[in-house]
Amino acid sequence: MLADLSGKTAIVTGGGQGIGRGIALVLAEQGADVAVADINDERSVSVAEEVQALGRRGISIQVDTTDNDSVKRGVAESISGFGHLDILINNAGIGRLTGSSGSSLEDDWEENWSAVMDINVQGVMRCAKAVLGHFIDRNYGKIINTASGAGRGPIWWGPAKGPEGMANPYGPSKAAVINYTQYLAASVAEYNINVNAICPGQVWTAFHGADPSNLSDPAHDAFMEKSKDVIPLGREQTPEEIGKLVAFLSSDDASSITGQSIHIDGGQRMA
Ligand SMILES: NC(=O)c1ccc[n+]([C@@H]2O[C@H](COP(=O)([O-])OP(=O)(O)OC[C@H]3O[C@@H](n4cnc5c(N)ncnc54)[C@H](O)[C@@H]3O)[C@@H](O)[C@H]2O)c1
Repeated sequence: MLADLSGKTAIVTGGGQGIGRGIALVLAEQGADVAVADINDERSVSVAEEVQALGRRGISIQVDTTDNDSVKRGVAESISGFGHLDILINNAGIGRLTGSSGSSLEDDWEENWSAVMDINVQGVMRCAKAVLGHFIDRNYGKIINTASGAGRGPIWWGPAKGPEGMANPYGPSKAAVINYTQYLAASVAEYNINVNAICPGQVWTAFHGADPSNLSDPAHDAFMEKSKDVIPLGREQTPEEIGKLVAFLSSDDASSITGQSIHIDGGQRMA
């Protein structure tokens, strides 16, 4: 077994697809019951059913991480559904507003910046705050935040010039997640709560505008080709691989690890 999560319970935000779905399923494979929390109810129901098919309790929770009441309700539902909560996976995030280039040099930069920060940074903080009372009362808890290598500086995914390697405000939002992870880890260490972040590399998901189920999409071929060029291991990462790292960090085997932001990117960034 990769990491023993028997008897543990987790909530995974953005669990309805992509990396979050991969994490939810690996946690379930390792023995955890999983609340799949997503703004898209149809997707969270579907992944909760996949968790159940693995023989675990899976519940779907419609949560918008930009809305404090929604977050509190979702966490309360998870705790009442399972009886207790051990693990928060703060994974919901976006790259930019739909239809926007994301560039801070464009007219919609302010709207775009606010939206990205609201989900990627404040969303993480809202969910952490919502679970902390429960974790502190139990003197136990694991929080894993999904950051990104983009939070450490440029990631050259094309020519090493111009703004392409510097996603903005995505990069700053993930830098904030890395820094907040350190702050929170230091703040709650005395309550036996571990807080870490993961920095995935390139994962073929809807995040890249992809239909992840369509591996014959020419865009997927282009993604694979680029991966060969810019990633030392020469390939993309998979949601399952990300899930395995998260399962380890969620387990008591990782009880001495806190405040870290761990790259899982085929060596694209060696930090
Ligand atoms: N795909 C990559 O290459 C990559 C690389 C590094 C980091 N990441 C990070 O991984 C995380 C997951 O990305 P993904 O690639 O799986 O993207 P995705 O778009 O496939 O999935 C994101 C999920 O989050 C949900 N979501 C969006 N806004 C929400 C909100 N306000 N409240 C609740 N749920 C919400 C969506 O409905 C969706 O199910 C993000 O934080 C992203 O920044 C992705």
